Amino acid sequence: MVSKNGKGRMTRREFAAASAAGLTLGSRLAAGRPAQAAAGAGPEKPTASDPARVIIDTDPGVDDALALLLAMRSPELKIEGITPVAGNVPLDLTLSNALRMVEIAGRKDIPVAAGLPAPLLRRLVTAEYAHGENGLDGAVFPEPTLRPIAERAPEFIRRVVRAHPGEVTLLTIGPLSNVAAALRSDPELAKMVRGITMMGGSLSGGNVTPAAEFNVYVDPEAARIVFQSGIPITMVGLDVTRKTMVSEEHVRTLEAHSNPVSQAAAKIARHLLEHARKEGFIAGPNMHDPLAVSSFLDPSLVKLEKFYVDVETFGEMTAGETLGYSPVWGHLRRRPSMEHVDMTFPLRGSSPSLARLTTSPVVRDHWIPNANVAVDVDTSGFYKLLIGRLAGTA
Ligand code: BDR
Ligand code: CA
Repeated sequence: MVSKNGKGRMTRREFAAASAAGLTLGSRLAAGRPAQAAAGAGPEKPTASDPARVIIDTDPGVDDALALLLAMRSPELKIEGITPVAGNVPLDLTLSNALRMVEIAGRKDIPVAAGLPAPLLRRLVTAEYAHGENGLDGAVFPEPTLRPIAERAPEFIRRVVRAHPGEVTLLTIGPLSNVAAALRSDPELAKMVRGITMMGGSLSGGNVTPAAEFNVYVDPEAARIVFQSGIPITMVGLDVTRKTMVSEEHVRTLEAHSNPVSQAAAKIARHLLEHARKEGFIAGPNMHDPLAVSSFLDPSLVKLEKFYVDVETFGEMTAGETLGYSPVWGHLRRRPSMEHVDMTFPLRGSSPSLARLTTSPVVRDHWIPNANVAVDVDTSGFYKLLIGRLAGTA
């Protein structure tokens, strides 16, 4: 379905139709597979001799910038392209920041395709309070000379995935607008995507509102389309990224290495530390996006549990909340010997209102997971990988 305005934006009516189609697609795909396969067994560890094809969808963004540098220093990845989207800052800045990182890493071979300037049907909310006016917390780098390719992100994603069916993983570390627009434009595409590893969501409270994590909050409708697409998803959310605090020692290590990537990463991280100190933040600064990329590079860094994840798109206070259903997690969990309840575990939405006869459309009789959710992290292993790669020592 192509939206009427032709720019990837959609109306609420179009979203409702797409969402219903997504439910059908998700159930169709899941119904044909065992529960394990529907959520995917989790990503395999890529190697330098057999690198994984990836597209990085991003909104740089301080932690995005570090995640991009990490990815571009990782021989286990064949980066097919980078697709900036509006998020932490407006698109003109996320695009130029992505181009800057590509130049700093000396990876002008990687195409950069500009994405959507706004969420599918909401007004853009940005996060200068965390990322500064320029998106890099005030760290200044020269204007990039590299230009984006003419093709826009949704078409780029579609073309590359179709060229390599079953091979391309989407590493998404920003709002999911580009990916949802690509999926909406091509109903067959979801089946050809190898998987999505995303920084997004949370099963333990949000960071923009008490309910919602930023990437999902900015474009909840896009996130819902993605979660209902049937693509195997690894969700690296606040449940684990909150446990990654960057320290003075990390920054000093980066400062001590003279290569351009280490120096750029040190400069960004130094601004980030200063900003967090000045603002008096108690938590963080967290390395949300580098952890998502790291967990793809080395899946042993996170512990994954299967969930059926859905996204609140209607709440007055809770839009963008991610809800994780599991019969073996939380207060409704069962004893291990009771695995057979998996298939009959009911997924309840909100209680029915007087105005409508039915309950929420998310109610399902059967629990079929659609995501592997990271619930724990090896933080020291993560920082060893991140700082080592950025410094050029690992
Ligand atoms: C996510 O939101 C953004 O501010 C960060 O870049 C990260 O992707 C964390 O909630
Ligand atoms: Ca981000």
